[in-house]
Amino acid sequence: MSFTESIDTALVTGASAGIGATYADRLAQRGHPLVLVARHAARLEALAERLVRDHRGRVEILTADLTVPAERLRVEQRLREDTRIGMLVNNAGIASGSAIASTPADVHEAMIQLNVVAPTRLVAALLPRLLHQGRGSIINIGSVLALTPDTFGGSYAASKSYLLSYTQALHAEIAEQGVRVQVVLPGVTRTHLQGEAGERLARIPAEWVMEVDEMVDAALAGFDAGELVTLPSLPDPDDWERFETARHRLAPMLSRDHAADRYKSDIPEDA
Ligand SMILES: NC(=O)c1ccc[n+]([C@@H]2O[C@H](COP(=O)([O-])OP(=O)(O)OC[C@H]3O[C@@H](n4cnc5c(N)ncnc54)[C@H](OP(=O)(O)O)[C@@H]3O)[C@@H](O)[C@H]2O)c1
Repeated sequence: MSFTESIDTALVTGASAGIGATYADRLAQRGHPLVLVARHAARLEALAERLVRDHRGRVEILTADLTVPAERLRVEQRLREDTRIGMLVNNAGIASGSAIASTPADVHEAMIQLNVVAPTRLVAALLPRLLHQGRGSIINIGSVLALTPDTFGGSYAASKSYLLSYTQALHAEIAEQGVRVQVVLPGVTRTHLQGEAGERLARIPAEWVMEVDEMVDAALAGFDAGELVTLPSLPDPDDWERFETARHRLAPMLSRDHAADRYKSDIPEDA
């Protein structure tokens, strides 16, 4: 492999725990040098030390709270300027409480900053360079709740619906320009998002909960297979294709020059 073809550095957000830490492990195993982003330096340092020991790669840490604009800007700047970075895993995320009505506005806002604003801004920082180079990849970690916002999850589900739509829109724009995008929609996965001691999992049937290693390995298999949308749990991929076909079938009927008949006023002319 020549120097110019060397493996891209991957920047992983929310890399200090759970899904992000597992991505870091697997990407290091694949030979990617890493930049690991999260708030807690000690956790990042411990992970970096382990990854260097196990995989002998280059691992840097970049501590930042991605809800704080000045700290997020340091990550954006790194993505813009470090030409070795060719892969972004937008993984950092938090869940608000499940009920919209009982969640304080500041909690909704902090979650939207992390789950929606940060990934959008990080892609905006990196994308021009990737498009210029004609290569690279962006992985966004969504959630199956993007597809079922009316069952559970409140505004968290809506934030993940954004990531699904955003990734589909991005793919439609840049698919032919050498930059890969993927959105991963995990179901319930055993991590600290489910409570430090897994307390939220106590209310969830065991057959709904996937171990984090299995989830990330499936997501990377989907990435390797060239998937745009990866649903690690979904047994039959044709179910997703049928869902997408039904959605696309609506498209030509969604913007027309007249209202649908059922919305036309039915007032008799001589009234
Ligand atoms: N676990 C699930 O059931 C599940 C299901 C579907 C989707 N997901 C999605 O998967 C992603 C990862 O979640 P997880 O389950 O691995 O959660 P997790 O175990 O709680 O880890 C979250 C990661 O995000 C980092 N983080 C949190 N707030 C941050 C902030 N303000 N700035 C920067 N980093 C921050 C945390 O590190 P620090 O505390 O050090 O900052 C940690 O590394 C999220 O986007 C989540 O929505 C999870």
